[in-house]
Amino acid sequence: MGYPLPQENSLKGPFQPMRFEATVEECIVTEGEIPRDLAGGFYRTGPTWKRPTKQGANPLLGQDGMVQGLVLREGRADFRNRWIRTPKYLLEDRHGRSMFEWTDGGFGDWRDTAYGDVTRDRFNCGVPQGTANINIFPFQGEMVASSEQGGAPIAIDPITLDTKGIVPWSPKLSRGMHDPAAFGDAAFTAHPKWDHETGTLYGWTYRDFAPYVTMHIVHPDGTVDSRDLWDAPYNTVAHDVWLTPEWIVMPFQPFTLDRKRITEKKVNLWGWEEDKPIVLALIPRDDVQGEIRWIETDLPPQYIMHTMSANVDGDRLMLDGPIFNRPPFPFEQDFAAGDDIALFFSIAKSHLGRWTIDLRTGAAKSEQLSDRPSELPKVDERYYGRGYTWGYQVGGVVKRGGMSMNSLVVTNMRTLSEQAYQIRSSQPAAVLEATFAPRSPDAPEGDGYIIVPVSWWADKRGEYQIFDTHDITKGPICRIELPFLMGWTPHGHWMDFR
Ligand SMILES: [Fe+2]
Repeated sequence: MGYPLPQENSLKGPFQPMRFEATVEECIVTEGEIPRDLAGGFYRTGPTWKRPTKQGANPLLGQDGMVQGLVLREGRADFRNRWIRTPKYLLEDRHGRSMFEWTDGGFGDWRDTAYGDVTRDRFNCGVPQGTANINIFPFQGEMVASSEQGGAPIAIDPITLDTKGIVPWSPKLSRGMHDPAAFGDAAFTAHPKWDHETGTLYGWTYRDFAPYVTMHIVHPDGTVDSRDLWDAPYNTVAHDVWLTPEWIVMPFQPFTLDRKRITEKKVNLWGWEEDKPIVLALIPRDDVQGEIRWIETDLPPQYIMHTMSANVDGDRLMLDGPIFNRPPFPFEQDFAAGDDIALFFSIAKSHLGRWTIDLRTGAAKSEQLSDRPSELPKVDERYYGRGYTWGYQVGGVVKRGGMSMNSLVVTNMRTLSEQAYQIRSSQPAAVLEATFAPRSPDAPEGDGYIIVPVSWWADKRGEYQIFDTHDITKGPICRIELPFLMGWTPHGHWMDFR
């Protein structure tokens, strides 16, 4: 059956859903040329509204993932987007209607997120709730989509974008908050890191009961080494980590979760408990069963949602990333029943910052490295876990209590010199997360291209802008056009074909 498009913040403007699958071969290049030395794909995934839930609500995380892929080779670009055919998607497709409802999916206001449990019935029993709608990353020649809390990682063909299914190593992963619906129904982080040389993938799951976090090191042959963090100080929304040559650095920040808040307090499951200290777990990368160093810091209550990368200089560990004044998510102290959802960057702002840890004493200090509001940090991912120099972000300007994103920013993280290019001014557009692609497989760190997706949603037009890292201030060297509205996607990655 058909439904009207709901008039909610989460489905307006840049968040209007792209409800069709497209194949655009030899995309129109409106300016410049696609570098002929680029060969690979740029993939992103995002929640895409298809129909209301069984409760008649539209929570963001319950919306099915849709993958967008831009394949570049021999100077041409081919675009495709496809629904990710998760078990949930297939069940609902077969019935032609929604088959799921969530404990946090029926309030009809900002509390609806679909981060909580689904209500099980005879139709959806045995069917995982995962939607594969937060990030997609390369692993062993496939793209793998994941959705934070709910659902196993899903393998996607990098050319056709066909859904290949739940990855074969999923039964070796742990559960997140939710009871597994079937054998192999696990969780996996949206922001794993990997070692470019060895192909090892570093991921984890988290939950609102102990062990609060379980690390998973996935080897290229599909074997998995796991470690439950029984010593974790409290549960946390474990969204991202830093990888150093020696450690996985997992931050416990007082952005907490508890499903009882939904059923008992009738609010969403997130809490911001500023009195809890920020605690860092330094987990040995090559010996995940080895001794974990816990560092309880006296850092002020701040929140790093996405890490940029880390450097170790003697006894100093430098953990970089945009630092928020608070998590950019709604809490009960901000909203009342009936309020519409507030979108990510409308209620909090972040600036590039650095937590420096003295490894001898455990002392920690926090610095703000730029006055410019920014988020969505990226790096040359060949250098994950090796130290780094170049960081990329989407920059913006302060807008009320939050920020409005408008530019690409490149920062030398050793000298803190930066280059910026303003992509939009007053025109309505969403400047989405950028991704780096190297000029050649063995190019030095940061030498190559930065691809920025831009949704000119008011014109119902999408665009990929390609910048040369030699000088981004000159503007894009190439613009690739999509003749329709490009659906909103939070995250994605590059896969090199060379
Ligand atoms: Fe994220």
